[in-house]
Amino acid sequence: MWPYPKIIAHRGGGSLAPENTLEAFQCGFSYGFRAVEFDVMLTKDQIPVVVHDERLGRTVAGSGQICDLLASELVQLDAGSWFGSDFAGAHVPTLSQVLDFCTRGAIWMNIEIKPAAGFEEVTGRIVAEATCDFYQNTNFIQPLFSSFSMDALATAQIFAPHIARGALFDQIPPDWLEQVKKLDAVSVHTNQRTLTVDMAQRVKQAGLGLCCYTVNDPIRARELLAVGVDALFTDNLKIIGADFV
Ligand code: G3P
Ligand code: MG
Repeated sequence: MWPYPKIIAHRGGGSLAPENTLEAFQCGFSYGFRAVEFDVMLTKDQIPVVVHDERLGRTVAGSGQICDLLASELVQLDAGSWFGSDFAGAHVPTLSQVLDFCTRGAIWMNIEIKPAAGFEEVTGRIVAEATCDFYQNTNFIQPLFSSFSMDALATAQIFAPHIARGALFDQIPPDWLEQVKKLDAVSVHTNQRTLTVDMAQRVKQAGLGLCCYTVNDPIRARELLAVGVDALFTDNLKIIGADFV
């Protein structure tokens, strides 16, 4: 049985607000979402921040790499204007700010550990430690970690063994079960475009949760749920709403 929500707002607010900003999380919340996915990497001073790309330029104004900036420098940059002038005040939030926002709103989290190349273990460790520290002395429902980096997940397992892990693959590889077992992961997360019915059955037969990104077409969403997919990450919050299932 999948113990988590089935419809998850991708990058906080899907396509309705600048991804991975507090404004996005607020937007997802206002659309009734109580489950979010977001991406976390490290700044130069090893502060975990919520952002998708290693490089500035697409969503965060500027050029260069996130790992070359101090958190104090990064959080001053504009992370909203690319989306629209209404969001010009949006910034890259820290993991701590997002944990705080989500727990206050009783929002369940899939924390995708998204290390920049070469920073896999350190990112896994710091995200795990920061999340553990935050959850100490609270009784909030625990988040789920996921990552394309099995090294990051293995390190998260060492530093936060009680926080569940999901193995994230663009396409589920031939040795997926071996990788999942090594991590003692509870779920497999994959690109909805590459998932076959046969593979969905195999993941379910292994007793694992199965999640798909990024599902924006309601017909495809129904198909995936019908073949046993447990949870969907969506950008289409207006059509694939929190109550879609
Ligand atoms: O965690 C699911 C999905 O977010 C993975 O892809 O590139 O959107 O982080 P991406
Ligand atoms: Mg992601």
